[in-house]
Amino acid sequence: MVSEIKKIGIIGAGQMGNGIAHVCGLSNYDVILNDISQENLDKAMATIQGNLARQVASGKVSEETKNNALDKIKANVALESLADVDLVIEAATENEDVKRKIFAAVTPIIRPDAIIASNTSSISITRLAASTDRAEHFIGIHFMNPVPMMKLIELVRGIATDESTFAVAKQFADNLGKTVAVSEDFPAFMVNRILLPMINEAIYTLYEGVGTVEAIDTALRLGANHPMGPLQLADFIGLDTCLSIMQVLYDGLADTKYRPCPLLVKYVEAGWLGRKTQRGFYDYRGETPIPTR
Ligand SMILES: NC(=O)c1ccc[n+]([C@@H]2O[C@H](COP(=O)([O-])OP(=O)(O)OC[C@H]3O[C@@H](n4cnc5c(N)ncnc54)[C@H](O)[C@@H]3O)[C@@H](O)[C@H]2O)c1
Repeated sequence: MVSEIKKIGIIGAGQMGNGIAHVCGLSNYDVILNDISQENLDKAMATIQGNLARQVASGKVSEETKNNALDKIKANVALESLADVDLVIEAATENEDVKRKIFAAVTPIIRPDAIIASNTSSISITRLAASTDRAEHFIGIHFMNPVPMMKLIELVRGIATDESTFAVAKQFADNLGKTVAVSEDFPAFMVNRILLPMINEAIYTLYEGVGTVEAIDTALRLGANHPMGPLQLADFIGLDTCLSIMQVLYDGLADTKYRPCPLLVKYVEAGWLGRKTQRGFYDYRGETPIPTR
């Protein structure tokens, strides 16, 4: 198995994939960013450029470091471009079937000694690992959103993950300047096991008419000192991702307290997925976000 990571393949160039590519490029790793959609790859590269430029403007990053990071990141729609990476980080849509299909397609392409990681927010690392040819060299590396700003990485071993894989993943997280919290492999791990039921409860609070979007978010911002309200946060995470995580909690822990709120289901069915589709609990199409309820 590889003992040092130099080149990284990232599968899925959505909000997480572009953030992971951004921090890896800044830490001088060679990165191949892959997606099934060329349009999403183009969008991701533009986002990375914009976010790096903002870091230059605020004095966090020099122009030279920005240009070096951009040189390090190559977008490629062909999975074959991952043939010589040391580490694959899967950051595609939060759906077990999608992820399993990706692993089936990518394992014959990558080197046998490469490590595979998933950025899943909730799905069993043990189960995902078992769908590959290298359960010992499979691990959960769970970044937080937005990746360049958030300090935490949850590292999750599957039942078969070996210690050398864990050590390489820990070193990688350290090199990115992130802080690691180790979680056992239970549905939604730690952060989302605690955070998502709160968001789901906020949606029930809206659904039952206890308060408006604005009232609920103001209540939690000013009453619990949260930096943003739970509905604003849900839009930020993506309502499809929120729903998937609640379903994993509901199925995996078999407790009705995790039942996804019907209003969350309805928003996802409408394609109102939050910021990424410009509409969720707020409408982002104008100058300022407007609450939808
Ligand atoms: N959104 C968050 O706050 C957050 C935080 C931590 C972890 N995550 C996890 O990260 C992963 C990605 O979430 P996101 O918010 O970036 O989602 P997203 O919807 O922004 O992006 C998903 C991307 O995956 C791509 N994709 C789908 N199928 C693919 C395939 N077969 N091959 C290559 N690319 C494919 C899509 O085209 C899309 O660009 C999920 O597992 C999610 O649970 C999300």
